[in-house]
Order: sequence, then C-alpha cells, then structure tokens
Amino acid sequence: MKANLLLLVSMVVLGVLGVCQGGSLRKRYYRRACPHAEEIVQKVTWSHVSSNPVLPAKFIRMHFHDCFVRGCDGSVLLNSTKNSTAEKDAVPNRSLAGFDVIDDIKSQLEKTCPGVVSCADIVALAARDAVSFQFKKPMWEVLTGRRDGRVSLASEVPANIPAPVFNFSSLNQSFASKGLTVHDLVVLSGAHTIGVGHCNFFSNRLYNFTGKGDADPSLNPTYAAFLRTKCRNLTDTTAVEMDPKSSRNFDSHYFVILNQNKGLFQSDAALLTNKGARRIALELRKSADFFTEFGQSMKRMGAIGVLTGKAGEIRKKCSLVNA
Ligand code: HEM
Ligand SMILES: *[C@@H]1O[C@H](CO)[C@@H](O)[C@H](O)[C@H]1NC(C)=O
Ligand SMILES: *[C@@H]1O[C@H](CO)[C@@H](O)[C@H](O)[C@H]1NC(C)=O
Ligand SMILES: *[C@@H]1O[C@H](CO)[C@@H](O)[C@H](O)[C@H]1NC(C)=O
Ligand SMILES: *[C@@H]1O[C@H](CO)[C@@H](O)[C@H](O)[C@H]1NC(C)=O
Ligand SMILES: *[C@@H]1O[C@H](CO)[C@@H](O)[C@H](O)[C@H]1NC(C)=O
Ligand SMILES: *[C@@H]1O[C@H](CO)[C@@H](O)[C@H](O)[C@H]1NC(C)=O
Ligand SMILES: *[C@@H]1O[C@H](CO)[C@@H](O)[C@H](O)[C@H]1NC(C)=O
Repeated sequence: MKANLLLLVSMVVLGVLGVCQGGSLRKRYYRRACPHAEEIVQKVTWSHVSSNPVLPAKFIRMHFHDCFVRGCDGSVLLNSTKNSTAEKDAVPNRSLAGFDVIDDIKSQLEKTCPGVVSCADIVALAARDAVSFQFKKPMWEVLTGRRDGRVSLASEVPANIPAPVFNFSSLNQSFASKGLTVHDLVVLSGAHTIGVGHCNFFSNRLYNFTGKGDADPSLNPTYAAFLRTKCRNLTDTTAVEMDPKSSRNFDSHYFVILNQNKGLFQSDAALLTNKGARRIALELRKSADFFTEFGQSMKRMGAIGVLTGKAGEIRKKCSLVNA
C-alpha cells in the first residue's frame, strides 16, 4: 500500500518535472497579454513574403542559427557593439538576412502591446509563417514564451553551427549536443528544399575533392557537370538553388534529389552514409510524412536552451539589448 502510494507520488513528481522541462513553452503564451500577437506576426510576415519569395528560406535558417547558438534566445538578431562582435558578424556569417523584416514585425507588435512579445518568439513564429504562406495555413505549431538573451558572440558560432563539409558522425554529434536525434537531423535537413547555397561551400566537390583535381564520387556525375556550369572555379561565390526548379517550394523534393545523389553539400550527401539515416531519408520522400515530421522536429529545435520565466528580458528593439 505504502509502496504503491510512493510510486504514485513519484510518478506525479516526475510527470510535473517532465512538463516543466519540455513544457516551459506554451501554446498561445500571449493569449492574455497580447491577444493578437500571433495574427500580427502572420500578417506582417505574409505581406513581406508576398513581395519577397526568398524570405521563407532566410527566416527558417535564421531560426536554426538562433537556436544552435545559446539556445533560441534571439541572440542571432543582436548587432555588434563596441565591446563585442555579434553572431551575425561572424566570419563567415553565411548570408543571414531578413533582419529588417524582423524589425518591422517587432515595431508593429510594440505599437499594439509594448514590451510583451520576445524577439526569440518572433523569429520562431515568422519562420513558420513565412514557410506557411505558400499553403495559406500554419504548417506546424509553434509554442511560445521564449525570452531574449543579452549576449551574442561571433566567437561562439563556429563550434555550434555545423559546417557543410561535416561527415555523418560530426553532424550527429552536433545535433546530439543540442538534444536532437538522428531523426531530427535528417528531417530538419529537409529545410534545404528551399533556398540557395553559395558555390564556395561545395565547389571542392566539383573541382578538387581529394586534392587531385577530382570531383566527389558520391555526387551524381551529371549533376556535378551541371553545377560546374554554375560554379566556374574554386573561388566563385555564385548562389545556386539547393533544390533546383523547386527552391521556392516547401516540399519533400529535397529527399527525392538527395536519394539521386544530388544533395548540394557534403553534409547533405552524408545523410546517405548511415544506414538508419538513409532509411529515414527514403521515407521522407512522401510529402505527408515530411510535413508531419518537420513540424515535430521544428518544435524540438525551437525548444533548445530557451530562456523562460524570469530569465532574460523582452527586448524593445530586436537588434539591441535593453538599456
Ligand atoms: C545539418 C546541418 C546543416 C548544415 C551543414 C547546413 C549548411 C548550410 C549552408 C552552408 C547553407 C548555404 C549558405 C549560403 O551559401 O548562403 C545553408 C543554407 C540553408 N540552410 Fe542549412 N545547414 C544545415 C541544417 C539546416 C537546418 C537544420 C535548417 C533549418 C531547419 C537549415 C536551413 C537552411 C536554409 C533554409 C538555407 C537557405 C538559405 C538561403 O536561401 O539564404 N539548414 N545551410
Ligand atoms: C543594427 O544594425 C543594422 C545594420 O547595420 C542597422 O540597420 C540597425 O539600425 C541597427 N540597429 C540599431 C538598433 O541600431
Ligand atoms: C562594455 O565593456 C565595459 C567594460 O568592460 C562595460 O563597463 C560596459 O558595460 C560594456 N558595455 C556593453 C554595452 O556591454
Ligand atoms: C557578415 O559579416 C561581414 C563582415 O564581418 C559584415 O560586413 C556583414 O554585414 C555581415 N552580414 C550580415 C548579414 O550581418
Ligand atoms: C568525421 O570527421 C571527423 C572530423 O573531421 C573525423 O575525426 C572523423 O574521423 C570522421 N569520421 C568518419 C567516419 O570519416
Ligand atoms: C549519435 O550520437 C549519439 C550521441 O553521441 C550517440 O549516442 C548515437 O549512437 C549516435 N548515432 C549514430 C547513428 O551514430
Ligand atoms: C587542389 O588541392 C591540392 C591539395 O590541397 C592543391 O595543391 C592544389 O593547388 C589544388 N588545386 C587547385 C586548382 O586549387
Ligand atoms: C572564377 O570565376 C568567376 C566567375 O566566373 C570569375 O569572376 C573569376 O575571375 C574566376 N577566378 C579565377 C581565379 O579564375
């Protein structure tokens, strides 16, 4: 009897702990303090995306970079100061963009409910809404309640953002260090179904893979020849669609081309070098599976290292810590 009670109590305690751990973010966190917050983010995001179709790629990558460095705390948005060089000025900062649009969303929110909605939440919501514009409905659920950090350091970028030359075990290690699984790694790599990559991040695969003037044998030779027409030499920095002909369409086509050995980066190709990952990559060619899984993995990515409760602050301007 006593043992059963103890079991019950410990289950309740563990349950509550579990909720606090994964559940410090909530659905519609701003329901009371700013009832129209999520509508405003969607409206402003959609108005920008309608005239700027590359924005979905910019925002989803911005959210990824935010979450992988110091957790999803809006640190990617901060400007450099006299004292410190911020994440966005890391070399290479790999062409992050869309900061002006985040500022616009923030200023609209500040008009309606000043000092309430965090910049970290804006990034998470805007990434979802930008991608969802194409479908005219939210494609995944975004929990909210993140607060903003006060620190952004370029020096923390290299150790936290995986590089396009990473092999499978380095990718797995990078994601595991953020509490993400191999499954999340494969699913989230599907974000490369939209957007572009610059030649300098993969031209070694076209011209000098092992230092003998050779191409990467794991890259489809026909595709490599096509890419050489875009990237003329090892220093060319032309931007190339990652999912050709479908690079503004959020769909499962990345996994179709990946399985034809047409992944653009070594890190894309690396997903086929592990048996479990390859199995997942094959599965995700089905768009219904990709959409479902992507939403769930984004939820896990969006919860990395978040500041909640009394931690951090709600910035007044997204590019600046509060005075
Ligand atoms: C798995 C490890 C990853 C590596 C090594 C990687 C690397 C890269 C690189 C090198 C670029 C090209 C940047 C440029 O040339 O401007 C890129 C672009 C992009 N990445 Fe990733 N990435 C990874 C995972 C992710 C994840 C998890 C997401 C989001 C969930 C993401 C979203 C994007 C998007 C949308 C672009 C296109 C950006 C644009 O068009 O400006 N990536 N990635
Ligand atoms: C942050 O930097 C951007 C680009 O240099 C600039 O446009 C913006 O005004 C800066 N933000 C603030 C609050 O000064
Ligand atoms: C810059 O550094 C000085 C000296 O360490 C410090 O007093 C000041 O608060 C810092 N300013 C900012 C904006 O971090
Ligand atoms: C990237 O860094 C360079 C040099 O540090 C800087 O001039 C550029 O403005 C940065 N790009 C963005 C989008 O912040
Ligand atoms: C993956 O890359 C890391 C870092 O470069 C290296 O130490 C490791 O041996 C590589 N693993 C495989 C299986 O090639
Ligand atoms: C990925 O990394 C985690 C953490 O280091 C490890 O437990 C797991 O075995 C790795 N998975 C694969 C498939 O290598
Ligand atoms: C290819 O790589 C080798 C070894 O790193 C180097 O010696 C050679 O100069 C490179 N070729 C070109 C065209 O850059
Ligand atoms: C590489 O190609 C670019 C684009 O075609 C060209 O502008 C540049 O001069 C080339 N560089 C070299 C070293 O050939």
